[in-house]
Amino acid sequence: MKLFYLFKIAWWFCVVGGEEYNLFGDAGQAYSLEIYMGHPKQKLRVIVDTGSTTLAIASYARRDNDEYFHTDNSTTLDDTRKVVQAKYSQGNWTGHYVTDFIEVPSLKSVPEVRSDFAIITKSHKFFVNGSGWQGLLGLAYLPVGAWGEHVIVGSWLDSLECYLEKSVSFELKLCGVQSTTNATHYGKFSMIVDNNLSNHTPSFRTPILHKRWYEVGVLAINIRYPNVTSNNSMVLDAGITSDTSNEICQLLNKQKSIVDSGTTNIRLPDEVYRELVHKLRQESQALNMLIFDEFWFHGEAACWPEPQEWLALPLIGIDLLSDVADNQYFTLEIPPQNYMRVVTARNTTGEGGSVSQFCYKLGLEAGGIDTVLGYTAMEGLKVLFNRSGGWIGFDTSDCGPNARISGPHTVSYSFIDACKLTRSDSEVAVSIQAAQWALCAISIIAAIVLIYLLAPAVKMCILRRRQLNADSVSQDALVDQELS
Ligand SMILES: *[C@@H]1O[C@H](CO)[C@@H](O)[C@H](O)[C@H]1NC(C)=O
Ligand SMILES: *[C@@H]1O[C@H](CO)[C@@H](O)[C@H](O)[C@H]1NC(C)=O
Ligand SMILES: *[C@@H]1O[C@H](CO)[C@@H](O)[C@H](O)[C@H]1NC(C)=O
Ligand SMILES: *[C@@H]1O[C@H](CO)[C@@H](O)[C@H](O)[C@H]1NC(C)=O
Ligand SMILES: *[C@@H]1O[C@H](CO)[C@@H](O)[C@H](O)[C@H]1NC(C)=O
Ligand SMILES: *[C@@H]1O[C@H](CO)[C@@H](O)[C@H](O)[C@H]1NC(C)=O
Ligand SMILES: *[C@@H]1O[C@H](CO)[C@@H](O)[C@H](O)[C@H]1NC(C)=O
Ligand SMILES: *[C@@H]1O[C@H](CO)[C@@H](O)[C@H](O)[C@H]1NC(C)=O
Ligand SMILES: *[C@@H]1O[C@H](CO)[C@@H](O)[C@H](O)[C@H]1NC(C)=O
Repeated sequence: MKLFYLFKIAWWFCVVGGEEYNLFGDAGQAYSLEIYMGHPKQKLRVIVDTGSTTLAIASYARRDNDEYFHTDNSTTLDDTRKVVQAKYSQGNWTGHYVTDFIEVPSLKSVPEVRSDFAIITKSHKFFVNGSGWQGLLGLAYLPVGAWGEHVIVGSWLDSLECYLEKSVSFELKLCGVQSTTNATHYGKFSMIVDNNLSNHTPSFRTPILHKRWYEVGVLAINIRYPNVTSNNSMVLDAGITSDTSNEICQLLNKQKSIVDSGTTNIRLPDEVYRELVHKLRQESQALNMLIFDEFWFHGEAACWPEPQEWLALPLIGIDLLSDVADNQYFTLEIPPQNYMRVVTARNTTGEGGSVSQFCYKLGLEAGGIDTVLGYTAMEGLKVLFNRSGGWIGFDTSDCGPNARISGPHTVSYSFIDACKLTRSDSEVAVSIQAAQWALCAISIIAAIVLIYLLAPAVKMCILRRRQLNADSVSQDALVDQELS
């Protein structure tokens, strides 16, 4: 009985005492996770980024940040000395392709594994002043990994799958801010080893159209009113028309549409952005909200002396292709608490009285060639990335803003045709495949050196990789190559 209570108390501390969250980020910064790197373990923070593939970590002190991975200190680091580089929508870096042990202390069921990653030796507009993170944990597919001459850096997820000999899925539960007076946001990153815990399937799933980034079909983006109840069999969204040549939809997916937790805003093609923001601005004017055009169209902050709730503003509906049929879709309904992003929440009481300022920025932006669903589109939802299954699942969440999902809705034509979406599981450039062979070769060379030094577990992984190498000879598609 006593023991039971002890357990109960321990549980209470774990869940209620904030243990549940393993992600946090300051206003405007993506969500970051603590990881241990090397032996002895060095504690570092990395952004969980579904918009890239490679785990990349600073290996030098930056101007305002002296936290980095001390390569000299790790006795287990293996440096291939291959030069690799990566370019992001903001910033770039060059560095070395290395391997070492990686552990995520908050994920008790995920073992420490030797993983490929990159140490950053030089960067340009990549690190952010005073950001509290030292690198990125890329979670996308191998073809878009950091690369060098004849190499692509393997990903941590691939290393983990290789070690477990099972495919893994991961879930992001992003909760946004926890109080009106603190702009730090929290969330939870968890991993699910496939063929275990398949007892919950997400309510809505969208197919991953190409396994490079998390590329999905975004069919329309429009505003919705909270007072309209959706009806499953009815098409309510003005963005989806019965017209079989759907221009907006073609525009949204012209290059690609991606789900990217490493990006803050929802980024849209200019035309779609202008139309959407005009509507939002009209709504705010109708509600007599005093918000300047600089806020709507130039990314400037708007501030008030007290926190804003935005209850009257409409939701933004994001229509996504369903994986059930190509004439079906569902809608993410993003409330104003998501897209009116808190950037400052200050209430300090000093000698000269109290200073309070609550500032917001629009969580939408124009420009760029891609449609990007940044974390603004994910807060208040549970998003499951099933890499091997090739789909992303969405569910409502028990934390964060009250985001909803409606659907499924059905139309009489195929979105694949109407939106000119291409869907391929076997698209692979020859150069990428060549790079993959080089990657395997490097691992094997490394294996010869390491095999006598490392734990048996690692040997297993190397063997597994050799096997993979043999298997993939008969496959024409690198991106199809999966561990089952
Ligand atoms: C590196 O190693 C030295 C000596 O072993 C130790 O004093 C120092 O704290 C280590 N630094 C880090 C960042 O682990
Ligand atoms: C980053 O990109 C800039 C501009 O494209 C280029 O001049 C620079 O050499 C690149 N830096 C690195 C570290 O790759
Ligand atoms: C970062 O900080 C350095 C000096 O601390 C400053 O020169 C630089 O302009 C800052 N960059 C940004 C983007 O604020
Ligand atoms: C917000 O809360 C976190 C911990 O809950 C704290 O570390 C941080 O300093 C707070 N930020 C502000 C601006 O008060
Ligand atoms: C499923 O995971 C749990 C812990 O996460 C583990 O105890 C159990 O053995 C796993 N089951 C299978 C079939 O792998
Ligand atoms: C929902 O609310 C909007 C704005 O408040 C209003 O224009 C619209 O007519 C309402 N719709 C319904 C069905 O009540
Ligand atoms: C939903 O649609 C059905 C028929 O398509 C209709 O009978 C029903 O009244 C609708 N419900 C709502 C809430 O609009
Ligand atoms: C700011 O703090 C003061 C004193 O702590 C409190 O009375 C006031 O309600 C707070 N204001 C807001 C907007 O939270
Ligand atoms: C991932 O997708 C595959 C195929 O749809 C399925 O077998 C597996 O259970 C899924 N994993 C999770 C965690 O949902």
